[in-house]
Amino acid sequence: MNLKEQIDRNSLPRHVAMIMDGNGRWAEKKGVERIFGHRNGVESVRQVVEAAGELGVEYLTLYAFSTENWNRPRTEIDGLMALLTRSITNETKKLNENNVRLLVIGNVSDLPKSVHKQLMQSVKFLSKNKGLTLVLALSYSGRWEITDAVKKMMADAASGKLDPDRVDSETVESYLATSFMPDPELLIRTSGERRISNFLLWQLAYTELYFTPVLWPDYRKEHFYEAIIDFQRRERRFGKVSGKSRALLNS
Ligand code: IPE
Ligand code: IPE
Ligand code: MG
Repeated sequence: MNLKEQIDRNSLPRHVAMIMDGNGRWAEKKGVERIFGHRNGVESVRQVVEAAGELGVEYLTLYAFSTENWNRPRTEIDGLMALLTRSITNETKKLNENNVRLLVIGNVSDLPKSVHKQLMQSVKFLSKNKGLTLVLALSYSGRWEITDAVKKMMADAASGKLDPDRVDSETVESYLATSFMPDPELLIRTSGERRISNFLLWQLAYTELYFTPVLWPDYRKEHFYEAIIDFQRRERRFGKVSGKSRALLNS
C-alpha cells in the first residue's frame, strides 16, 4: 500500500506547522552558494502545499523567515527577499487554481516594500478561496508575537476596552497573530535540528513534534505523508490519563 493510502482521512491534523530548514547545508554539500539551496526549496514548498491541500489539511503554516534571520549577511537576505517576491508572483495563479487562501503572520512592516506589496496583492487575490489556508510566517518569531500581543493588551487596558481581571488564556489567544486558526496538532522540522527556534511558542504547547534529517530542498510529498502517518500512531494526552489506562481502571 502506498504511503498516501495509509493515511486515515478521518483523523487528519487540522493544522500542520513546518520549520523549513537545511537550505544552506544542502547547497554547501553540493559546493554551490547558499541561495541555490533557497531556490531549490521552492519546489518543496509546492509539494507540501499540494500534499496538504489534497489530503484536506485545513491550515499549513510555513516558517519562511524569522526575526533572527535579519542577522544573516546582507547578500543572503537580499537574495531571499528577491526570491520571495518572485515565487509569490509566479505561484499565485497555481495557488488560486488549487483553491488556496494565503495569509501572512509576522512583522511585515519590516519587509522591503516590493515584497510587502506583492504579498498583499496575492493575499487579496486569494482571499475568497475555501481550500487549504497557507500561512507564511515572515519576519516572525514567537517572542515578537507575544510581545506585540502584550503591547496591544496593555493599550486596550489603558483605554478601558479590556478588563485585566477578566484576562484568561482565550483573551491572550485573541491578541495573537494566529487567532484565526486552531493550534497546530503537528510540527515538522527538517534538517535534523531538534529545536523550535522561536517559532509558535504559545501555540505549540501540546503539539506533536516530528523531526526529520531530510534537508528542505529534498523534501517531497512522501516525506509529508510519513510525518502524518507517524502522527496518527501517537496518543495525545493533554495532561490527562492515557485512554488505555482509563479502560483498565474501569474494567
Ligand atoms: C532554512 O534554511 C531557510 C531559512 C532560514 C530562511 P537555512 O538557510 O537555515 O539552512 P541551514 O540551516 O543553514 O542549512
Ligand atoms: C528557523 O531556522 C527559521 C526558519 C526556518 C525560517 P534557522 O536556521 O534560522 O534556525 P537556527 O538558527 O538553526 O535555530
Ligand atoms: Mg537553518
